[in-house]
Amino acid sequence: MAHAKPTVSLQARNVSKSFTSGDIRSTVLHDLTLDVRAGELTLISGPSGCGKSTLLAILSGLQRPDGGQVFALEQDLNHLDTRALERFRLLHTGFVFQGFNLFPALNALEQVELPLSYLGLSPAEARRRAMASLEEVGLGPRMKLRPSELSGGEKQRVAIARALAKEPDLLFADEPTSALDAANGQIVIDILHRIARAHGTTVLCVSHDPRLVGHADRVLAMEDGRILSDRVPSQTSTPTSGLEEPSA
Ligand SMILES: Nc1ncnc2c1ncn2[C@@H]1O[C@H](COP(=O)(O)OP(=O)(O)OP(=O)(O)O)[C@@H](O)[C@H]1O
Ligand SMILES: [Mg+2]
Repeated sequence: MAHAKPTVSLQARNVSKSFTSGDIRSTVLHDLTLDVRAGELTLISGPSGCGKSTLLAILSGLQRPDGGQVFALEQDLNHLDTRALERFRLLHTGFVFQGFNLFPALNALEQVELPLSYLGLSPAEARRRAMASLEEVGLGPRMKLRPSELSGGEKQRVAIARALAKEPDLLFADEPTSALDAANGQIVIDILHRIARAHGTTVLCVSHDPRLVGHADRVLAMEDGRILSDRVPSQTSTPTSGLEEPSA
């Protein structure tokens, strides 16, 4: 049995995935093999339609591959039935999306507390964790505000706090900055990076925002369902003010 090195938390082995629409069957992931390490922010970039979100869905157990294997925290996800997979995702994964996915009627604290009830935490423990997560993303003073009273960047930080409060081993983010301006995008990516460092979380982030590349520990370039390159950016992330503006 392939035994992962302790720092490798996610593995795809010869993963393939196709979709059929009408008579046309198109292959979205081609025999893709990949290791992702804990404690790092790994960025997947690539053109629209190349399979990034599909890869994230498969690595997080949301979709099943047609072929190949996925090991997450050394578990072969193929061996888990639907219920076990749901439980695995509940216990070990957090997700952050482009569109925040917040409930309009709930304030920030309530948004973060809500999923914790499914983990079986006591209300007091849920509140403690939710407050700590909101503090961690810099929203301590704004935790009583609802989405309509928060900026886009703040809403995304609530969504990150909601994922973080579960204390997941695996944190997935699909285009978390694409609805944000440069400064807020930078703040969000710095937070994701800090989470990887501080908690040893595996953070896997999809983005085609070139500004984020320098802030990742590792950048995978994807095209047509394949990983084309795997590199460590030369400029490792120094804390930034979040104020730099691209000139072109
Ligand atoms: N459920 C589905 N049924 C049919 N086709 C799908 C399905 N999900 C994805 N696809 C197709 O698979 C391809 C890859 O989609 P995917 O969402 O993974 O791309 P992406 O790299 O995330 O693109 P974007 O940057 O635009 O988000 C696309 O051509 C898409 O139309
Ligand atoms: Mg996508």
